[in-house]
Amino acid sequence: MNKIIRWGILGCGKIARKFAADLRLVKDATLQVVASRDEANAAAFAKEFNAAKSYGSYSAMLESQDVDVIYIATPHGLHYEHVMLCLEYGKAVLCEKAFALNATQAKAMIDKARKKNVFLMEALWSKFIPSYKKLISLKEEGALGNIKSVLINFGFIPQPPVAKRIYDPALGGGTLLDIGIYNVFYALSVLGKPDSIEASITPASTGVDEQCAILFKYNNGALAQLFSSYASHLATEADFSGDKGRVRLTHRFYTPDAALEFYPDRADSKQIIPLDKTIGFGYHYEATHGGECLRQGLTESVVMTHADTTLLMQTLDEIRSKSLGFGI
Ligand SMILES: NC(=O)c1ccc[n+]([C@@H]2O[C@H](COP(=O)([O-])OP(=O)(O)OC[C@H]3O[C@@H](n4cnc5c(N)ncnc54)[C@H](OP(=O)(O)O)[C@@H]3O)[C@@H](O)[C@H]2O)c1
Repeated sequence: MNKIIRWGILGCGKIARKFAADLRLVKDATLQVVASRDEANAAAFAKEFNAAKSYGSYSAMLESQDVDVIYIATPHGLHYEHVMLCLEYGKAVLCEKAFALNATQAKAMIDKARKKNVFLMEALWSKFIPSYKKLISLKEEGALGNIKSVLINFGFIPQPPVAKRIYDPALGGGTLLDIGIYNVFYALSVLGKPDSIEASITPASTGVDEQCAILFKYNNGALAQLFSSYASHLATEADFSGDKGRVRLTHRFYTPDAALEFYPDRADSKQIIPLDKTIGFGYHYEATHGGECLRQGLTESVVMTHADTTLLMQTLDEIRSKSLGFGI
């Protein structure tokens, strides 16, 4: 029998609820402890999701010896502080995307995990879902040929009540770190590190990007055009096209809800590639993987590596420096 992995959740907000719900689908895992800044919120969350214990402060939870790994579900502007706190207590960490505000923070977090010999992974959940894996296997089999064009968009108009983190610069607000990160992640996955980047934003009243348009250029002639918006409801689809074929991930391309269409030849020769049906929201894939890493005593995932996180953060920094004239 597998060792049961005992999870803790730090921050009981929106994504924490989805993750806790999906944790019920993970074999040999239990939600052991939860912590909120508000004791009553933590207690209600623990009751709803059957956690054994709740805490009204993050550090009080980290004192607990009954937990194997902490899932950090606070706004990205606080990830650095909360990951460092968990590592200080020697706790393994699965940290929501965006991993940090910038590559400097990410490096310090990774360095600390290495020094403490503790597991740390970015919760880039899309990397574990069936459609992403199929996209990568089609690319690796050569079914798309030489990939020259990547077109990805992700946009919605935030509806009230709008979480503070969406527009607050201190919490890492703006489309790029929230949703544009998926566009960047998929483009990097398929085309690799760009040879040059162009980017432009329109600012919201708080100064964070309300829209962000990015161009990745490659010396082999490939281009990726990536667009994120809080000003428009976009198709939120992704297209990867080569000289042999094209993959289209339909609405909410980064989730298990998307269909994977393969066009092996001309634009009208569509094949729908069957994918394993996902139950839940799809967060159980990353949680299952995290548990396997812990059982094997790993301090780094071989799927979502520290190098993957570093490249992603460095690319996001460069996009900001190109679009704002400075990084964060
Ligand atoms: N993987 C995905 O699909 C996905 C989807 C949505 C969001 N996310 C990521 O998850 C993170 C959280 O997003 P969310 O939508 O869950 O946000 P949210 O609903 O605002 O929840 C964030 C939680 O963080 C805690 N927190 C601690 N200090 C805070 C502060 N100063 N201001 C606001 N909240 C604070 C709060 O929990 P307590 O009051 O309980 O302590 C709050 O409920 C973000 O990094 C986001 O990018 C990922």
